[in-house]
Amino acid sequence: MSEQGSSKTSPMMFLAAAVGVFAAPVLAIVLIVQLVLSIQAGHVDKDDPRMADAAVQARIKPFGEVKAIDPSAPRVEKTGEAVYTEVCSACHASGALGAPKYGNKADWSKRIAQGYDTLIKHATEGLRSMPPRGGNPDLSDIELARAVAYMADAAGAHFTPKEPPAPATPAPAKPAAAK
Ligand code: HEC
Repeated sequence: MSEQGSSKTSPMMFLAAAVGVFAAPVLAIVLIVQLVLSIQAGHVDKDDPRMADAAVQARIKPFGEVKAIDPSAPRVEKTGEAVYTEVCSACHASGALGAPKYGNKADWSKRIAQGYDTLIKHATEGLRSMPPRGGNPDLSDIELARAVAYMADAAGAHFTPKEPPAPATPAPAKPAAAK
């Protein structure tokens, strides 16, 4: 009796088996199509104008990127050494284009004799192959003056950069003394 019951295939079971037999390949096909689509999504077709455009944009992307800087943040003036290293050393370290070489007294003595103000003027406005502001228009007057002093002092001058007036913030020493 029990044998008979187990071997008997009910119409429901047959239906379930039939659905399984047909559903399995369909499921497989759906999965394969999804796989192909996902591979295609990552593929860049160079002939597709949209893709070509994106590829060109990526190639001609500027090297620099915009940084969001708080415009109200106080500007930090660089030291003469920093300006020299970043800008002036390009020519003044080696004496390129006939630039007076850093630390070379013979190169600098006559120039120093012109006075600090003249040197600053020439560094600001340029002089023959010496580009205005060393070619960096972002340098402030005080940064330029510091860099001139840094280079001239290395060749025997004793220039004191004219520091700008103290920032508007109240000097910390006075309120402290008043207490
Ligand atoms: C592209 C090269 C170059 C760079 C960068 C450069 N200089 Fe010069 N500089 C020269 C040359 C060349 C001379 C000599 C000019 C001449 O007398 O014909 C010179 C001369 C000078 C002099 C002497 C001017 C005089 O009256 O004799 C000063 C001061 C000076 N440079 C300052 C600077 C400072 C400060 C920087 C950086 C902010 C700088 N230079 C960056 C090429 C350069």
